[in-house]
Amino acid sequence: MGGFIFIRSNKNIDVLPLAKLALSRMEFRGKDCSGIAWIENSRVGIVKDSCPISELFTRYSLSDMRMSVVLGHTRYSTHGKADSRNAHPHTDCEQVVAVAGDGAIRNYEELYAELVDRDHRVVSKSDFELVAHLVEDYVRGGLSYARAFAEAVARLEGIVAIAALFRDGSAAIYTSHQPVYVGLGGDVVVVSSTLSSLYSMVSEYTSIEAGELIFISSEGKIGFAGIDGNTITKSFLVYNLKESLVDVDGFPHHMMREIYEAPYSILRTASAVQARYLELASKIALKSNRFFVIANGTSLHAGFVFSYYLSELAGKVPVVVSASEFPLYYLESVGVGDAVLAISQSGETSEVVRSAYEARLRGATVIGVTNNINSRLTRFSNIYLSIAAGPELAVPATKTFTSTLTLLYILARSVSEIASKPTSEILSEVWREVEEVYRVLLGNLDRVRLEVEEASKSIANCSSGYVVSRGITYPLALEGALKIKEAAYIHAEGVEGGELRHGPIAILDRNMFTIFIEPLERGAASDMLKVVEEVLDYGSPTVLISHTSNDEKTSLAKVRVPSLKRHFMPISIAVAIQLLAYSLAVRKGVDVDKPRRLSKVVRTQ
Ligand code: F6R
Repeated sequence: MGGFIFIRSNKNIDVLPLAKLALSRMEFRGKDCSGIAWIENSRVGIVKDSCPISELFTRYSLSDMRMSVVLGHTRYSTHGKADSRNAHPHTDCEQVVAVAGDGAIRNYEELYAELVDRDHRVVSKSDFELVAHLVEDYVRGGLSYARAFAEAVARLEGIVAIAALFRDGSAAIYTSHQPVYVGLGGDVVVVSSTLSSLYSMVSEYTSIEAGELIFISSEGKIGFAGIDGNTITKSFLVYNLKESLVDVDGFPHHMMREIYEAPYSILRTASAVQARYLELASKIALKSNRFFVIANGTSLHAGFVFSYYLSELAGKVPVVVSASEFPLYYLESVGVGDAVLAISQSGETSEVVRSAYEARLRGATVIGVTNNINSRLTRFSNIYLSIAAGPELAVPATKTFTSTLTLLYILARSVSEIASKPTSEILSEVWREVEEVYRVLLGNLDRVRLEVEEASKSIANCSSGYVVSRGITYPLALEGALKIKEAAYIHAEGVEGGELRHGPIAILDRNMFTIFIEPLERGAASDMLKVVEEVLDYGSPTVLISHTSNDEKTSLAKVRVPSLKRHFMPISIAVAIQLLAYSLAVRKGVDVDKPRRLSKVVRTQ
């Protein structure tokens, strides 16, 4: 994951300072590594290293150089560790082209084998290096640079946004899913992964969307086309992003930006799964005597959802337990033959890391699930699976949760089918499902946000409340309550629907809200609607997060979440509860990206 910038001056003016500024503005997409490519003696020149862009400029005295065409990149490692070899831009064997990109290439292994077979020297573990060699291959075959690029990107599966700078100064850019922005200002053309990085450089802009390409000739002429080669006409808009929103890419907060990233982030997760590690993890899980799942906070809630996935799909029931509780109860008895799935988006939470380490010392096999492949958890795990959601800056976990759910679903599917299907086939099937989820989420996000904002008005004045659900969405009630506490500072408790009448209902009144998440299980859903009636009678301001439209009650604030296949509904509901917590926080004026007393990584002594 990461972000790229391409800048060209048509009047031969030095654009390197602009590239540095633009890249520093997109460091929220990652800054483990950075790199710059330019044209020198009809070859591409590249400097790159495992440091942020400002340090790259110091280390390599870049401020002394002048360049009128630049391709730059800033990176978050999800494939291959953070070192200079894996940093972008990448080039081919003969330095025909420099390539920088964002995303994950699903058919990496197949393309790698093909290119190595044709004697390409692949020097990094980065999937995007393969694009440079593929382009080189088509150029060797006699195609023009533009045509070679189009042929190369047509071979890629997964979620990718790629920019290529050719040795004649021409450039090409492609995106499979997420928008890429093109701005014009004075004599410069700027192409970027983020809209905000164009700030103060351009006066008008447009974007390319899924499956579209931009070609910029060595004379600076810009053309747009579809992957089918047909020319596209684009209209440009006035660029008027407010300066105050530059650091958050046009969103009011990082939390909102990250919730809005969920559709792309789940695609990155599904695309980044490496078949051989998934297969290994599935076999370990399947053969284990006891299978423990340990995590804290939001990751623990993802673990609870996983227990539904695994028991429903594979008939295996894991023991899901807080990583803080695990050493007090289970650790002593853990040994050879047991497996521990340790989930931590940061990979640094003390309880998770320590429990995983201790379990491994006792002979258990540890599978790490993390968004930080350079973390202690990856070091202590026998194998790890990358969440690949990219950096998350807001303290409340949002896109890492939806991506973790996606990864755990994939793992459960693989455990259930490993004996009967090749992993590559399982991954292709899952990819198609996740692409559908992406489409549905993207198409509904704005509507859900508006409904959530309306619904949050009715409960914002309460000092406390319940989030209630049953079945596979019960962990979402726990997660909803956690998000509301940490983001909005409102006391909230997650309650299993059947338990409501066993005590909690006694204190409901007009000062306490109840948020119902409609269960997916038919009987449970109709039972819960009866409880909703009762709760309304006690005057509790009530919100129903529903995936059906059969309830006609008007005294109830409703949020309709898009309906998806059962195992993806937790993702759909997660986005709604995250937006609800966000909306309550904003109404209360909380600094939602940095709630008091909380930090992104919890380290205990
Ligand atoms: C909630 C939140 C925390 C973390 C918990 C575990 O939004 O961020 O509850 O989920 O501290 O963190 P990781 O997953 O990094 O181990």
